[in-house]
Amino acid sequence: MLEKLCNLVKSCHKAVVLTGAGISAESGVPTFRGKEGLWGRFRAEELATMEAFMANPKIVWEWYNWRRELMGGVKPNPGHLALVELANHFGSFTLVTQNVDGLHRAAGSTEVLELHGNINRNKCVKCSAPYEESDIDPDRIPKCSRCGGQIRPDVVWFGEMLPGEVIDTAFRRSEEAELFFSIGTSAIVHPAASLPITAKHCGATLVEINPEETPLSGLADIRIAERSGEFLPRLLEAIRSGIGSGEKG
Ligand SMILES: NC(=O)c1ccc[n+]([C@@H]2O[C@H](COP(=O)([O-])OP(=O)(O)OC[C@H]3O[C@@H](n4cnc5c(N)ncnc54)[C@H](O)[C@@H]3O)[C@@H](O)[C@H]2O)c1
Ligand SMILES: [Zn+2]
Repeated sequence: MLEKLCNLVKSCHKAVVLTGAGISAESGVPTFRGKEGLWGRFRAEELATMEAFMANPKIVWEWYNWRRELMGGVKPNPGHLALVELANHFGSFTLVTQNVDGLHRAAGSTEVLELHGNINRNKCVKCSAPYEESDIDPDRIPKCSRCGGQIRPDVVWFGEMLPGEVIDTAFRRSEEAELFFSIGTSAIVHPAASLPITAKHCGATLVEINPEETPLSGLADIRIAERSGEFLPRLLEAIRSGIGSGEKG
């Protein structure tokens, strides 16, 4: 299995990686689902919506500030770091993530397509202009200097469209991919979950890294039922030590 994958890395030019919350699990990023405490009473679906923000922006900001604090203390894990090195083995390497935690960039990945935005960025609720100041006081929510709209977190809320250019690029690269890795995602939330399916239909070899089976598992050419933070460094080590005989044509 490891040798087969090393051969693929050595022989393929174009790769796409899709990551989900699972790649950040070993960093201890809280999922905030089923948590005890003050915010345990609220579900993401109830606060991460435009309706919630319009009805009560203060409570939505308090919740985001709490999540920022939780995510602020975490660091990239060996899985994130291995992907930085893996990129160097391809002529074209596209990293697409559903995570909003920014850990891929923190690890050193330069080009990251963030499908669901980034929890540390802010924008105007009306005109989407970026807002540079990151600290927001829920009692004095700043206003956009262009249009006066309130400032909100720059993440994709339930019921909202994904950023058009980002998802279009992700689909284009998936169509061209020779090798596609689906890592730590339950592969349920579309359109992200359509990326590996598209890649496979267009001829890519599909690799899934996830301890649990997903709706994608049956479609995967190679399934690795391991944690990404353990398997990816092993894969890199195997590539470095020259396992596999493939050559880029
Ligand atoms: N870190 C974050 O930014 C974060 C955290 C929680 C939720 N979310 C959001 O929740 C939505 C849920 O989709 P999703 O698919 O990303 O997450 P998900 O929670 O639905 O699925 C996570 C998957 O990761 C797998 N997994 C768990 N530990 C793993 C490990 N160590 N290595 C590899 N795989 C592991 C699980 O088996 C599961 O299939 C997304 O839209 C995302 O934006 C983001
Ligand atoms: Zn504005």
